[in-house]
Amino acid sequence: MNCGGKKKKSANSPVGTNKSKLGAPKEKKDETEQPSASVKGESLKKKKNKRMKMTTRRSGNPTAIANEPIPWQNLKIKIYKHLGSGVMGSVFLIDWQKSKKVALKLVPLTQNSSWHLCKVEVDNLIKIRQISSEVPNFVKMLNNCIVESIPAEVCKKFQLLQNTKYSVIILENGGEPLAKKIFKSDEQIISAVAQTMLAMCVAKRRLDFQHVDIHDKNILVSETESEIMEYVVDGRKVRVRACGVKVTIIDLQLSRFKYYPSRYDLRRLCDVFIMLAKKTNEESARKIILKAVEICRNAPDSAGLWPNDQFFDHTCR
Ligand SMILES: Nc1ncnc2c1ncn2[C@@H]1O[C@H](COP(=O)(O)OP(=O)(O)O)[C@@H](O)[C@H]1O
Ligand SMILES: [Mg+2]
Repeated sequence: MNCGGKKKKSANSPVGTNKSKLGAPKEKKDETEQPSASVKGESLKKKKNKRMKMTTRRSGNPTAIANEPIPWQNLKIKIYKHLGSGVMGSVFLIDWQKSKKVALKLVPLTQNSSWHLCKVEVDNLIKIRQISSEVPNFVKMLNNCIVESIPAEVCKKFQLLQNTKYSVIILENGGEPLAKKIFKSDEQIISAVAQTMLAMCVAKRRLDFQHVDIHDKNILVSETESEIMEYVVDGRKVRVRACGVKVTIIDLQLSRFKYYPSRYDLRRLCDVFIMLAKKTNEESARKIILKAVEICRNAPDSAGLWPNDQFFDHTCR
């Protein structure tokens, strides 16, 4: 495979192939589905609030976020630029103390719901760290705290709220969202698919992890010089050719670490992979990715994504 090589254009396989041309079969009806609310915009906000209420009922005080607010200046942060925004947060490229070009996620703590969701996200980032030696694709948290308020000049420059407490989560830089990524080769796209599938599979098997908000803006891609990505699946080492790219899965605010019979993540992964199949140039690469879509459609949950010779034989060493 021509890992990291130049994109080849094929006259027979235009980039803009549509869904029906991809031959994607209709998805099976999922009886054990979570509520099918859209995960975008307002619906996501509602969903996050609903989840907050449910968890609040169980856990008591919704404002019980552990950290005492600290002054912004104590953090010694230099912000370079805005990296992206979601429903809850704005994320910036920063230097933080000795860490260069890392990511800063800021969420204004204007409601009890945002306090709670930030605490859940931090807890989830800590939980997923348990398997960081078995799967390299979940974003690593470097630090977190709450700041009392952000200086007026910083608020003006980066459109933040003045006189408002903010949740601060400092994360490793995961790169660009999959939605925007321009890949250098089809092999890079296949590698991104394999990395995502294995990450979700290992996390499910080890921690009963469900992301619950997996989509093409919560999967990031960065360049890497590592030749392989290493996984441990059921005690067995599995290696995927990186082909110059590393996947990072972010935004664990809605994630669960508890058995729950759902194919929700798999349905979202199908959408992501179909989008990636459209980015391929060669028919053969498209077929491989559509195989991954089929595997996601047929698996009972993300634990069932491995083993699968039909897909992983192409992508693993
Ligand atoms: N660790 C990171 N590295 C690089 N960019 C990031 C990182 N985390 C978030 N981003 C960017 O910020 C956007 C919003 O971040 P996200 O954590 O998904 O916020 P929200 O919870 O509001 O959806 C992402 O889609 C991505 O573009
Ligand atoms: Mg997000």
